[in-house]
Amino acid sequence: MPSTTHVLKGLEGVYVLESSISMIDTEQGALYYAGYDVRDLVERSNFEETIFILLNQRLPTRKEYLEFTSLLRESLELQPLHIETIKHYVSRTDILSLLSLLMVLEGGGKKGGDPAEKRSGIDAVAKMASFYSAILRIRSGGEYVPPRGDLNFAENMLYMIDGEVRNADFARVLDDLLIIHAEHGIPASTFASLVAASTLSDLYSSIAAGILALKGPLHGGAAEASYAQAMEIGNPERVRAWLESALSEKRKIMGFGHRVYKMYDPRATIVKKIITGIENYMDSDVKRLYEITVALDAYGQEYLAPRGIYPNLDLWTPILYRTIGLPPDSFTALFAVSRSAGWASHILEYWMDNKLIRPLHLYKGQYPKKYIPLELR
Ligand code: CMC
Repeated sequence: MPSTTHVLKGLEGVYVLESSISMIDTEQGALYYAGYDVRDLVERSNFEETIFILLNQRLPTRKEYLEFTSLLRESLELQPLHIETIKHYVSRTDILSLLSLLMVLEGGGKKGGDPAEKRSGIDAVAKMASFYSAILRIRSGGEYVPPRGDLNFAENMLYMIDGEVRNADFARVLDDLLIIHAEHGIPASTFASLVAASTLSDLYSSIAAGILALKGPLHGGAAEASYAQAMEIGNPERVRAWLESALSEKRKIMGFGHRVYKMYDPRATIVKKIITGIENYMDSDVKRLYEITVALDAYGQEYLAPRGIYPNLDLWTPILYRTIGLPPDSFTALFAVSRSAGWASHILEYWMDNKLIRPLHLYKGQYPKKYIPLELR
């Protein structure tokens, strides 16, 4: 072993691949999908077009856009076996686990490794969305609602959850959330999906690997954890005292900090702007959540910003999720629906020049050790 060999803990600062899918500008605080500023996409585009941009790294022509949205809508349809599986497991496990199971089953018998498999990428993102919606619908006692041809992706998701077309503003908020979460370079979940894909596992199973890595509170689970934290704090007057005590106990403040951003998360800035447009829809619980979040954002920066730890998007997104009525235990699963667009794009890009991902470890134990048979121990 060369004496200079050392372990890069958490792969911090390590470049693992070249990609044209997204770029995080940590100087200016901006995020680009294939060169397009996410702020522009939120204002002027929609999730369907965002998926196309991520999968193809360019804008669609009008004809391509129409074909693409029609393929997406087709893929939103679920089959009786999907519904039976959801009904069987919905009360037995959490939403994210069920979502990953459904994706694994979807991948059964399929092969991986073909970078031209865009149709599967489209299907996988749409299936994630309809699985998510059907899980919420069936869990609340309703029957599966098939998607409608005249609704867009976000409208269909809400329609499949509620069984009726609701407020168009809510669908716009959902669409914005889907765009904002769709891609973010190589966080743990994307890396996990690439590790699976690099073995030539199929696309759906590779996405399931991403889902499972997204689950934890240090990554995709942070919005659920940040919501639980706000509930624990209870009211805005308690924020400073709660924060001081949490920091003195060396607790991590959920919704703060990021491996890449050592500045205010630009996605949080977009989320805050969306919130200002929907304040009139907030009920008293969401208003309290909002006030707690405003105080936590301010006091948290007072204590943590000098250490380069700033609010991230998960501090703010629970306000949007709750305003449009999504259950707190479904936040991470919705993140997964959106991020499946990024995972699928990275997987297909990786397969263009696949290389098995296989890092090394430094063995720290002793060897060789003499084996002692059980009867002599
Ligand atoms: N609250 C308090 N201290 C923190 C926080 C925080 N949120 N984040 C980092 N630190 C401290 C940490 O305790 C450590 O201190 P010390 O050096 O004294 O031991 C130091 O900062 C470095 O922390 P780290 O966890 O080793 O650094 P990292 O680059 O691995 O951290 C992070 C990234 C996201 C895991 C971390 O900031 C964190 O746990 N944040 C809370 C969870 C969260 O909000 N996650 C969502 C991230 S954004 C959504 C996404 O893209 O996944």
